[in-house]
Amino acid sequence: MGPPKTRHHFLVIAAASRGARFFVKKALQQGHSVTAICRALDDADALARMQALLDKTPLTHGCLPSADTPGIIQAFDRNIFDPESYQMLLNQDTLIDRVCFFVGATSLGQLLRGDIRLCSRTIQALITGMINSRWIEFYYHGSSGTEGIPGKNKPRLPDNFHLQWLLNLGLKIPAAQDCFKSEGLLAEASGSGMKFVVFRPAWLTNGAAGRSYGYCFDTTGWDNEKLPLRNAKMTISREDVAEEILRVSTLPDSEREMWFGHGVYLVDMKK
Ligand SMILES: NC(=O)c1ccc[n+]([C@@H]2O[C@H](COP(=O)([O-])OP(=O)(O)OC[C@H]3O[C@@H](n4cnc5c(N)ncnc54)[C@H](OP(=O)(O)O)[C@@H]3O)[C@@H](O)[C@H]2O)c1
Repeated sequence: MGPPKTRHHFLVIAAASRGARFFVKKALQQGHSVTAICRALDDADALARMQALLDKTPLTHGCLPSADTPGIIQAFDRNIFDPESYQMLLNQDTLIDRVCFFVGATSLGQLLRGDIRLCSRTIQALITGMINSRWIEFYYHGSSGTEGIPGKNKPRLPDNFHLQWLLNLGLKIPAAQDCFKSEGLLAEASGSGMKFVVFRPAWLTNGAAGRSYGYCFDTTGWDNEKLPLRNAKMTISREDVAEEILRVSTLPDSEREMWFGHGVYLVDMKK
């Protein structure tokens, strides 16, 4: 067994999303490589799109130190619902060792139409693609509003949400249901070799990284030992979430192991 690997290669799905831009920029700065999938006219346009977005993404001072040599980005315009997209990229580049998911609804239709199933179709395609190529670790940027270990999770907002009963009705919209149900696909695939972590961030903001968030696994609680909701806000910035996904996905093997199979609630703490 050689020394632990300190440089990784991330496949990022929906790399142009507001959260992924922070993730990709930070990963590259820390010397990791990125294969970005985003919508574009062709692969050259995908790279141009990513480069323009990264140039416009300011990072808050104080994140982990930059590597001497930044990582390399490649970008592809691929159908995220087609298993072949993942199978081909994973076979082509055997250095890819992590996959991160940032897909989300960008229109009212995608939120409300039950047949769109953005998250579950993408995740099912990824699972099939991995079965036909190889398993790599999966980091899912999902959403809060679900409680319990992935696979047994039920829609429910954390108890510190004002008007929780009313907002819980909002969790019935098809996009939210699909996001939560996707966790079941991952839990099912874990029997075949899938290692995954589900992140369930609170309401996302575009604010600067505050680095004062907390996390807990699977189930939140007013007096949760790890994250007492009585001391929590209801928001977290996209930049903080990106940093946390990058931090967890680059932990040493022995520390990362305890995260697999869990749904991780992330939220800012009150000062
Ligand atoms: N809003 C909240 O408070 C909140 C809270 C917790 C979790 N979340 C979840 O967090 C995730 C990321 O959030 P975000 O704000 O960073 O996302 P975002 O900026 O809204 O981006 C969503 C991404 O999904 C891509 N996408 C949508 N439909 C697609 C399709 N058919 N094919 C390919 N790509 C498609 C979009 O591609 P284009 O760039 O090409 O449009 C976009 O890059 C989402 O899953 C969201 O549901 C949101």
